[in-house]
Amino acid sequence: DPAASTMTVRAGTPLEVIQRAADEAGFFIPLDLGARGSCQIGGNLGTNAGGNRVIRYGMAREMVLGLEYVLTDGTLITSLNKMIKNNAGYDLKQLFIGSEGTLGVITRTVLRMQPKPGCVNAALCGMDSYADVVALLGAARRGLGPMLSAFEVMWADYWHEATVTVGVRSPVAGPHPFYVLIESQGLDEAIDGPRFQAWIESQFEAGLIADAAVSQSMGDLAAFWATRDACSEFGSRFGPHVAFDIGLPVAKMDDFTIACRARLAERVPNAFSVYYGHIGDGNLHLVALSKGAVKQPMSDISAAVYETVRDFGGTVSAEHGIGILKKPYLGYTRSPEEIALMRRIKAALDPQGILNPGKVFDAEVEK
Ligand code: LAC
Ligand code: ZN
Repeated sequence: DPAASTMTVRAGTPLEVIQRAADEAGFFIPLDLGARGSCQIGGNLGTNAGGNRVIRYGMAREMVLGLEYVLTDGTLITSLNKMIKNNAGYDLKQLFIGSEGTLGVITRTVLRMQPKPGCVNAALCGMDSYADVVALLGAARRGLGPMLSAFEVMWADYWHEATVTVGVRSPVAGPHPFYVLIESQGLDEAIDGPRFQAWIESQFEAGLIADAAVSQSMGDLAAFWATRDACSEFGSRFGPHVAFDIGLPVAKMDDFTIACRARLAERVPNAFSVYYGHIGDGNLHLVALSKGAVKQPMSDISAAVYETVRDFGGTVSAEHGIGILKKPYLGYTRSPEEIALMRRIKAALDPQGILNPGKVFDAEVEK
């Protein structure tokens, strides 16, 4: 619906099919993540997917105007709303988005489309300190305004694995303790390209950036993103490991990595971990394992990381959800009152516990 700037899709549609259909119609679907080719929109909404452009467009729930879903008693709720403003009573769809399939089955959705960006510019920056990274994030928000579409940070340990173990070419000479990928979506290359270049230069002159490569082509853009997408190869390179998607106060993230490495070293033999993430969203990823272990001590690794998250007042899941693995740690992030309210909602909507049983928390089930 071009006039409403929406697309109505069935839950099983792969995200990439949706992105392509929007593109062909002259629009843009900002939701994007590495699994775009295989993941389906129903799952993206069930988990309230985040991804790489949250800093500009928000998470999946911000892109949904309408939703159709089925309740456990068979009631079909068709609310394929296309209006941006609809404040008539409870916004029920938000209960089903992000609840990991535990409250109802999503069948269709109305997505909000965006205008296609006129141009995309990016820079890959080598940084001397985490304080500089935080200062650059603030400067990017002020200097690029609403054009800022990604601010991805990679710690040196991640960079080593991406460029040496996985073998992605480094766009900048190193080494640096931190690397930042900044992306800006503008309107007009003739205006916004030079503006981006000048902004990067001003940050270099101000001493915030130690070294930077600025994209000159779509090939450069792809090469910059390849450093960030290299993490999708970690599974095959590292073997069994534990992957985390925690949330933390932005200013504390580097202190967290130091505390987390120390706690992992105490608890896990030959502990190894690498850090990267969507720092503009307060979302840090890390991958941890015991090097050379025949069987990974998954629960020791998880406990060490989540206890550190709790100490820092963070969240055990910023974008991937709780599922089964993070269930024991839900209480590190949500209060007993919040979890009790979640249980009441679950009991009201799924009294027999037939929807995605065992996920998020253990529900009381009617006999
Ligand atoms: C990423 C996925 C793991 O950001 O959330 O790479
Ligand atoms: Zn992520």
